[in-house]
Amino acid sequence: MTRRHIIAGNWKMYKSISEAVSFIQELAPKVMGVGTEVYLAVPFTSLSAAAEAAQGTPIVIGAQNMNDAAEGAFTGEIAARMLLDAGARFVVLGHSERRHLFGESSEFVNQKVRRALSEGLEPIVCIGETLEQREREGVEEVLSEMISESLKGISREEMRRVIIAYEPVWAIGTGHTATPEEAQKVHAFCRQEIGGQWDAALAESIPLLYGGSVKPENASGLRAQPDVDGLLVGGASLDVKVFLQIIDYQTFR
Ligand code: PGA
Repeated sequence: MTRRHIIAGNWKMYKSISEAVSFIQELAPKVMGVGTEVYLAVPFTSLSAAAEAAQGTPIVIGAQNMNDAAEGAFTGEIAARMLLDAGARFVVLGHSERRHLFGESSEFVNQKVRRALSEGLEPIVCIGETLEQREREGVEEVLSEMISESLKGISREEMRRVIIAYEPVWAIGTGHTATPEEAQKVHAFCRQEIGGQWDAALAESIPLLYGGSVKPENASGLRAQPDVDGLLVGGASLDVKVFLQIIDYQTFR
């Protein structure tokens, strides 16, 4: 079966509103008709302007985090409805920087995934092991638990709107990426786990992205793997030319 193929940029805490808009204006004409979906997770402040700049283009704009509550007295937090209102169509949830720097548990991520789905935002749910977990517990044990806890109680119907990103924590921002073979092995395992929790047909259809030091030099090897359905790109998504090489490596190599 053919699965969706997505290249997603995660800008983290970078770019002003005007930088975001000029990036999109430069990117948009070059991604018309490319055989992949192009997602950009931008800072909250740029959401409205980015969504407006991306209108009528294949670029899909989303956010990098949100709160699990519908609304309320939560100073400094942001609700799914506000993201939708600003033009976001998806949201990155459970990114390792949220889990490790801001103490987010899989249980909290699960609440956010439920909220995103019920409000109509497409979640990109991130999972990945630290080096320590890899050595102590093993990759499969860690990921199996992260999948079951972060996606607990999500119905099969809702799962059809979920994207999963495998990002080994030791690869994020470090320049050490998983080899294509390692990524393939882990992705195949995740698909099997999803098959066990829901069913094989759903597992077959779910997009599994790889993230962690993706660069133009390693992108083609990673995306050539049968269970790698796209990439989540941090640092290399900040420069439009570099990001374009990752999106359309056949043309730009
Ligand atoms: P990186 O970040 O590509 O800079 O390693 C990936 C991510 O955090 O999503």
